[in-house]
Amino acid sequence: MCDHKGVTPLDELEWLNPDEIRLLRTSFVRMIPACEVRSERFYERLFESDPSLRPLFPTDMESQNEKLTMMLASAIDLLDQRDKFVETCAALGKRHAGYGALRGHYDLVTRLLVECLVEELEPSLSQAERSSWTKLLTLISEFMLSGSGQTEHAPRQG
Ligand code: HEM
Repeated sequence: MCDHKGVTPLDELEWLNPDEIRLLRTSFVRMIPACEVRSERFYERLFESDPSLRPLFPTDMESQNEKLTMMLASAIDLLDQRDKFVETCAALGKRHAGYGALRGHYDLVTRLLVECLVEELEPSLSQAERSSWTKLLTLISEFMLSGSGQTEHAPRQG
């Protein structure tokens, strides 16, 4: 058991069930046409919410938008291969430690990404799809944090 309130140890994280995986894949296909625009909006909101994050990113965000979309696509692709999914997220998290990403930032990123998905797909995004996306992004964040050496969970912000 973990002593910290509201924090889940990695080995207790529940993996996605087949229904959730199906919902993620079908909703992702619906989003593809608007991916770039949505990524741009996501970063605008991120920098509005926490302006101190802007200097961590490159001035030209064009390739960043593409990289985020590609990463989400490969996460969706790896949902049948949990070990590879964990390995990919941990490697991404290790790089993010070098970018200056902290646990509190991940909570913000997860929340804003889900908000952008909802906005883009509304009204066609069902409650079950929305909660599957929240679960996926939480898993990605937790496995990234494990790769970044932030496995000793500090209490979440917010
Ligand atoms: C769900 C969580 C996240 C995902 C999927 C994600 C994904 C990515 C990807 C794919 C890249 C491209 C570079 C690479 O592959 O290493 C990247 C770059 C970057 N990410 Fe994230 N990220 C996440 C969370 C965060 C958080 C919480 C921060 C907080 C500061 C952050 C800050 C950055 C920065 C600063 C770069 C640009 C590095 C550079 O080009 O110099 N990311 N992210």
